[in-house]
Amino acid sequence: MPEEAEAPSAPEVPPTPHVTREARILAFANQKGGVAKTTSTLNLAVALSEEGYKVLVVDMDPQGNLTMSQGFNPDQIDRSMFDVLVHRLPIDQVIQKAEVDLAVSSIDLAGAELALSSMIGRERALEKALTPIKERYDFILVDTPPSLGLLTINALVAATEVIVPVQCEYLSLRGLVQLENTLSMIRENLNPDVGIQGILPTMYDGRTLHAREAVEILQENFGDLVFHTRIKKTVRYAEAPVKGSSVLKYDPTGSAAAAYRELAKEVLNGAKARKHA
Ligand SMILES: Nc1ncnc2c1ncn2[C@@H]1O[C@H](COP(=O)(O)OP(=O)(O)O)[C@@H](O)[C@H]1O
Ligand SMILES: [Mg+2]
Repeated sequence: MPEEAEAPSAPEVPPTPHVTREARILAFANQKGGVAKTTSTLNLAVALSEEGYKVLVVDMDPQGNLTMSQGFNPDQIDRSMFDVLVHRLPIDQVIQKAEVDLAVSSIDLAGAELALSSMIGRERALEKALTPIKERYDFILVDTPPSLGLLTINALVAATEVIVPVQCEYLSLRGLVQLENTLSMIRENLNPDVGIQGILPTMYDGRTLHAREAVEILQENFGDLVFHTRIKKTVRYAEAPVKGSSVLKYDPTGSAAAAYRELAKEVLNGAKARKHA
């Protein structure tokens, strides 16, 4: 009998860390518009991807700003998160390759709240959709619309943690309390472990007393939950999406890109408490 061939040595473990565990799912929420939810979703995603992590972003806003910011036209998209949430289309079929993988939105999504409202399990449509692909990614970042409606609730139910961008100019603590109340209800009924991972001060202009005071008020009220990173005010963040790119690609050596890289480090260190009591 011929000698048995030597068993092939075990294949090398691929260097990407995503094969071993499920994704951290970060929802970006604040029912106020214009606080940099979409900007933060994309740029943090790209910063995490630069660190070698496998990242998916999901556009849950019918306005499709995240989708547009990667150069896709939401008006010309056939199948979107609407079909995933309402018709249970596998999410793979709406993921586009961009700087990071992107599950696209279209204007149809505006009808999703109504279509979902009469469905059993309406709050868990996104969670269900993500289940089959969770192991493929290290991070799934979900952008939400400026409301606490069913689309945002789906994001908060699917999430392992929440990032709350807050504009330092028009600080609305009442709005944050309302968001926390919604999160408490979600913890009680739908997703016991979800909590605020961090509050992100955005559009910060350190030259104004007003902005410095806004951050102080945040720290007095939320303590350690406030990220150390401040996202400064600069027109770079508005310029980049016009070119269909993140600020990290648009101006890779600029301070705007550096800010989201710094945020990525904070998120990776996970220094913040997972849950805000
Ligand atoms: N740090 C920043 N400085 C200046 N403008 C910003 C900053 N972050 C975002 N913007 C701009 O502000 C507007 C609102 O940001 P966006 O991310 O769309 O907010 P949201 O998703 O919360 O509505 C956009 O035009 C965006 O380009
Ligand atoms: Mg937005």
